[in-house]
Amino acid sequence: MGKPLHNFFGKIRMKKILVVFGTRPEAIKMAPLLKEMYNHPDKLEVILCVTGQHREMLHQVLDIFNLVPDYDLSLMQNGQDLFDISARVLTGMRDVLNEVEPDLVIVHGDTTTSTMVALASFYKKIPVAHVEAGLRTFDIYSPWPEELNRQLTSKIVSFHFAPTEAARQNLIRENIASEKIIVTGNTVIDALYWVKNKFLTNKANLDNIVKSLAKKGYDISRLDSGRKMVLITGHRRENFGPGFISICNAIKTLADKYKGTDFIFPMHLNPNVRNAVSQVFGDDFDCRDNVFLLEPLDYISFIFLMDKSSLILTDSGGVQEESAGLGKPVVIMRDITERAELTDSAQAKLVGTDFDKIISAVSGILDNSSSFNGIGNRVTPFGDGMAARRIVEHILHQII
Ligand code: UD1
Ligand code: UDP
Repeated sequence: MGKPLHNFFGKIRMKKILVVFGTRPEAIKMAPLLKEMYNHPDKLEVILCVTGQHREMLHQVLDIFNLVPDYDLSLMQNGQDLFDISARVLTGMRDVLNEVEPDLVIVHGDTTTSTMVALASFYKKIPVAHVEAGLRTFDIYSPWPEELNRQLTSKIVSFHFAPTEAARQNLIRENIASEKIIVTGNTVIDALYWVKNKFLTNKANLDNIVKSLAKKGYDISRLDSGRKMVLITGHRRENFGPGFISICNAIKTLADKYKGTDFIFPMHLNPNVRNAVSQVFGDDFDCRDNVFLLEPLDYISFIFLMDKSSLILTDSGGVQEESAGLGKPVVIMRDITERAELTDSAQAKLVGTDFDKIISAVSGILDNSSSFNGIGNRVTPFGDGMAARRIVEHILHQII
């Protein structure tokens, strides 16, 4: 178990905390927590394990935050399905847990990595803490499989770090003891503010971002002449097939309608996303003057583009929260969202993948400049940039 330390007052036992994640958004949202935990080397021995559910997209984030995993299960296979990931994470974690023997495991959110790591820890009777706990749509097929993943994880874990009061209420409704739930804010806002303060306010760093974006295929000086820009992401499993074809057709139609607007779509590496995009735009991904189909961007470049955009069109969870943090209008390509804090505001529109609804929502915002100028920073319900500190304080004073 934990390494024993000594001081004049007696024996202090350092606690072993095993942090495990596997995908891009988990890495972004856990990086601030890791940085905060590394500030307490006298009390916490922090071990980082990545399952490698993602590969390139995960390593992009690890590089930016200077995170070096102690364990990398390198599980990703091209076109993996839910059976592959679940089985490989579960058995991969058996060896890590046997070797590390942590006092506490920390997982994040609703990926298959996080649920399977929680289950593996349960099999070893090791307590688990869950960051970003309590998000719910109450429809187990939307988002799929994430809604069931997070419900199962909440059943397994001992400590629930809920980002918002609404998330806390969801957990209470599931009979989770209120003293085990701590409202912290979402660590994504910590990560966002870190990028904004460190990179977006510094000329040399900005120059590097602009150069790196140009290499990826977008010249930001196009916006100098007053062009607008729409930033797009999409990857949800429940949208694959007709949903994604509809999304791509809507982008194509909008690009024809708004020649003075650039549509930038950094495409997720999932082959299901790429197939839909190539069916609509062609195999070379390079077919329109104002559509830019790019490889996944590093986190800093992506936030830079969000900050420059007129609106964001997405089915992503993290991007919805960041839109709120940056005060940007967001059109959400889902039928239902677990982030009602945002859709309750004028800043967001929930449209699903319906072609007409996407066209109408995006047009409504692009046609009415006051609607996006006026939105500003009105809604930032997801946090204040201090979530990681609150979580670590709680771990230090209440858990270990
Ligand atoms: C996963 C999560 C989802 C999360 C999303 C964030 C599950 C079931 N899904 O979905 O909750 O919102 O990550 O992006 O946990 N690929 C690469 N390189 C990468 C990453 C992915 O090539 O770095 C390709 C591979 O072919 C892989 C496929 O994408 O098999 C799908 O990856 P997977 O993690 O299964 O699903 P995501 O759609 O990324
Ligand atoms: N993101 C990124 N590069 C990109 C697109 C997105 O770094 O090209 C970041 C984005 O800022 C957000 C996260 O990836 O923090 C969202 O990941 P994703 O949409 O894959 O997953 P979700 O949040 O839906 O689980």
